[in-house]
Amino acid sequence: MQSVESKVVVITGASRGIGAAIALHVAREKVRVCLCGRNRKALTEVAQSLGLPKQEYLIVTADISKPAGMKKIVEAAYRKFGRVDVFINNAGVGVRKDTPLTTDKEYDATFDTNVKAIFYSFRELIPRMKKQGGGHIINISSMAGKQGVPGMAVYCASKAAVNIMSEAVAGEVRNDNIKISVLAPGSTNTGFMSHLSKDMKPSPKDKKRLTVDDVAEAVVHLMKQDENTWTSYSEMRPLKIK
Ligand SMILES: NC(=O)c1ccc[n+]([C@@H]2O[C@H](COP(=O)([O-])OP(=O)(O)OC[C@H]3O[C@@H](n4cnc5c(N)ncnc54)[C@H](OP(=O)(O)O)[C@@H]3O)[C@@H](O)[C@H]2O)c1
Repeated sequence: MQSVESKVVVITGASRGIGAAIALHVAREKVRVCLCGRNRKALTEVAQSLGLPKQEYLIVTADISKPAGMKKIVEAAYRKFGRVDVFINNAGVGVRKDTPLTTDKEYDATFDTNVKAIFYSFRELIPRMKKQGGGHIINISSMAGKQGVPGMAVYCASKAAVNIMSEAVAGEVRNDNIKISVLAPGSTNTGFMSHLSKDMKPSPKDKKRLTVDDVAEAVVHLMKQDENTWTSYSEMRPLKIK
């Protein structure tokens, strides 16, 4: 395991849920951190909970589903810190409803946020990471990207696209000292799925879920892996299901 102290870590979707927990766990490793999302107030609250001095964190508000939003994040991080060592594509949205009821708008929002944003991040980051001598991009996918879940077809398709796109791009850059990792958690205890539509099916209540800390710890583990070790794809699930 290597120390990640003073590395620059960017987290999208850091305003709540898994992203906010990742921020807390990486801050304990004494990294410099860039927190991104659309809600400045929520990001500021997360930033204040980290206990970092002002010069060691940055807040960027941006809509990552637009190319200009991802560009804004990457440019702001390079402007403040001069480099990005780890970029965590965590922000995501989902829909839980029967497929014939899913609208074009929901389909597009899901793919634009979950898939296109990661493509934009590759386009912005890879040339810069090559220039600085390497880097690590960690994409938060989902178990739903490998196992079709009824009522979540569009979300499943978006995460499957993340998995295969990441694998392809990882092969393009592995000799440039750039790692691209995919972490695919199972159901995790957040308010996820409640932000896109008002008319979604409720999530199953009795299911055993991962906690946000479980996922954040796995992200830290990926970041700290030895320089010559690369976990390309990993899945997380709770051991017991009841
Ligand atoms: N929860 C689960 O069961 C679960 C399981 C497996 C994988 N995942 C994945 O884990 C990731 C985080 O999920 P979560 O459960 O923590 O969700 P969450 O609590 O709903 O948080 C989602 C985050 O994404 C940000 N976001 C959404 N759309 C955005 C956009 N267009 N531009 C910028 N930021 C945007 C939100 O920020 P603002 O709304 O403030 O902008 C928020 O910070 C997602 O990729 C999800 O697919 C979740």
